[in-house]
Amino acid sequence: MKVPFNDLARHHAGLLPEIMAEIGEVFASSAFILGPKVAGFEQRFAELHNAPHCVGVNSGTSALHLALLALGVGPGDEVVVPALTFVATAWAASYTGATPVFCDVEEDTGLMDPKALERVLGPRTKAIIPVHLYGRPCDMDAINALAEKRGAAVVEDACQAHCAEYKGRRVGQFGAAACFSFYPGKNLGAAGEGGAVLTRDETLAGKVRMLRDHGQSRRYHHGVVGYNYRMEGIQGAVLGVKSRHIEDWTERRRAVAAVYRRELAGLDGLVLPADEGPTRHVYHLFVVRSLCRDLLAEKLAARGVATGLHYPLPLHLQEAYAGLGHKKGDLPRAEAWADQCLSLPMFPEMREDEIAWVVGQCRAAVRECGC
Ligand SMILES: Cc1ncc(COP(=O)(O)O)c(C=O)c1O
Repeated sequence: MKVPFNDLARHHAGLLPEIMAEIGEVFASSAFILGPKVAGFEQRFAELHNAPHCVGVNSGTSALHLALLALGVGPGDEVVVPALTFVATAWAASYTGATPVFCDVEEDTGLMDPKALERVLGPRTKAIIPVHLYGRPCDMDAINALAEKRGAAVVEDACQAHCAEYKGRRVGQFGAAACFSFYPGKNLGAAGEGGAVLTRDETLAGKVRMLRDHGQSRRYHHGVVGYNYRMEGIQGAVLGVKSRHIEDWTERRRAVAAVYRRELAGLDGLVLPADEGPTRHVYHLFVVRSLCRDLLAEKLAARGVATGLHYPLPLHLQEAYAGLGHKKGDLPRAEAWADQCLSLPMFPEMREDEIAWVVGQCRAAVRECGC
């Protein structure tokens, strides 16, 4: 048997008639940029996260960029980001002219470590971006306490964490703003690029709305230098349909994760994701760790199990940030995660026989690796 890492064709198959009907309405109205489908989706996505304001944009990267700009982040400022994340978290800081400052992660979760955060905060820290990586929320109480003491804004990077919860509350409520991605493979994905900023702050939402649309609040009257970061009508239509299913898909991901956890527990040489603690993990990715990760991935591929690496090189060691002068060894826990992480197949439509196949092949491959 072959088990793919993700299967978007299967994900969309049953939804196509509904999606096509909604796209037909976009063509009928010619509302290709923003428009009623985007507004409808914004309202639905805000409700899903108990946030009063949602601004749809054209990617998660744009969402992060605009959230920082709206908070006044700019040249001379520092923005703390975890070293283990997708690079776009740091791009957002760089785009504003600020400097990203990389922070090490917790050994057990791979998420921003509050103790490491405390060490890198300084007088120039203007914002902190905790990343709810893999779908598990960060330790927001500890991060917010440090941010408050320092007078820094918190922007949640929830690009992988749609509908995740921390202490019973959905992400999107723990900072000045929260940013989401609707990249096709995400838990809620568009038919192309898409993103959103959630916030409880009406003024901030207004700024983001203006910035996404060429800095205008009235047509051809540009109050600030803005961007063309608007969400497309077709993406709003697709996301509107798909958002009706996100709760079910999340439960399904959690069910797959529960089987993985139960059936792979106690295997020598394989570290499972940390216990969920006070969070509701939404398993965008199910990431295990192994000291012989590359060999394990190779053996799994030979046994028909596709895997992924999220992420194999931490941000402080990326060539793009060589100018910041980091070297190997600076952030040891992020580096260990990068060397050891392996993402197993995870998508809501996984069949029972596929889940069982992954479990069986994992057990056999781990034993073969012997590390
Ligand atoms: C943690 C994280 N931050 C930011 C992004 C950027 O989102 P996008 O690809 O929609 O620009 C992504 C997704 O790719 C992500 O996983």
